[in-house]
Amino acid sequence: MSRFQGLTVLVTGATGGFGRRTAERFADEGARLVLSDLDESSLTEFASSLQTEVATLAGNVADETLSESLVELAVKRFGSLDIAINNAGVAQSFVKLPQVPSDEARRIIEIDLLGVFYAMKHQIPVMEKQNRANGHGGTIVNIASVAGLAGAPRLSVYAAAKHGVMGLTRSAAAEYASKGIRVNAVCPSYARTNMVGDFVKLAGGREAEAIAELTRGVPMKRVAEIDEVIEVIMFAADPKNSFMTGHALSVDGGITAI
Ligand SMILES: NC(=O)c1ccc[n+]([C@@H]2O[C@H](COP(=O)([O-])OP(=O)(O)OC[C@H]3O[C@@H](n4cnc5c(N)ncnc54)[C@H](O)[C@@H]3O)[C@@H](O)[C@H]2O)c1
Repeated sequence: MSRFQGLTVLVTGATGGFGRRTAERFADEGARLVLSDLDESSLTEFASSLQTEVATLAGNVADETLSESLVELAVKRFGSLDIAINNAGVAQSFVKLPQVPSDEARRIIEIDLLGVFYAMKHQIPVMEKQNRANGHGGTIVNIASVAGLAGAPRLSVYAAAKHGVMGLTRSAAAEYASKGIRVNAVCPSYARTNMVGDFVKLAGGREAEAIAELTRGVPMKRVAEIDEVIEVIMFAADPKNSFMTGHALSVDGGITAI
């Protein structure tokens, strides 16, 4: 039997680079899905391409009511919420701290940090209730970043938000370790998604130069392929991986090794 057979998995940012592949991989391994992203039509179109039961709800993760509604949808439609992948996020303009517009800083904190807080705030009580009822709590995987583990020049507010995600991850992991809920974070360095595409655009389309900039200080001297990151998300979510909680899984070509 597949590792995620019959489990209900919630994925935010589900039509983006990591989210899409994550949803496809869970579908391939037998999960039922609750998917969310900003744009309703791309979400519906993507959902119809998947070979599993899927419920969708479009919305903004910076709006707390979305998180509440997603959890309600999972329980109403499938009877449980077993795994949550809190993945939706945005990058910031690549500038030094004083040049970050304050409106942009607030927006990044609201999406990348408060979005994860709202998600966990509504996911945890349902998982705790499931644990009391039948001994099956749940697993939360937050998509942070290597920028959540060390300073990130010209990405200061993004780094602050992702450090915040690590704080939420570790604190909730400790609070709920004995209540059947595991909480871990995956911390990728640059991977080949739209975010890297956006960066190449910002560098005036000079791809080789932009990639060289992004991979400076990466021992493997390359960006990650999407599937290399998804593999680690699946590992963190795997119910057999039952003793790991509060952990930051770096997927970074060796950056944090030096
Ligand atoms: N790609 C990388 O190099 C990289 C590296 C480290 C961490 N990350 C993190 O991985 C996660 C996924 O990013 P990605 O690389 O797949 O980027 P992406 O831009 O391809 O996907 C992000 C998705 O999140 C959605 N989203 C953005 N703002 C939202 C909001 N307010 N409400 C709901 N949905 C929203 C977007 O519509 C998009 O589909 C993000 O949290 C990002 O910070 C990415």
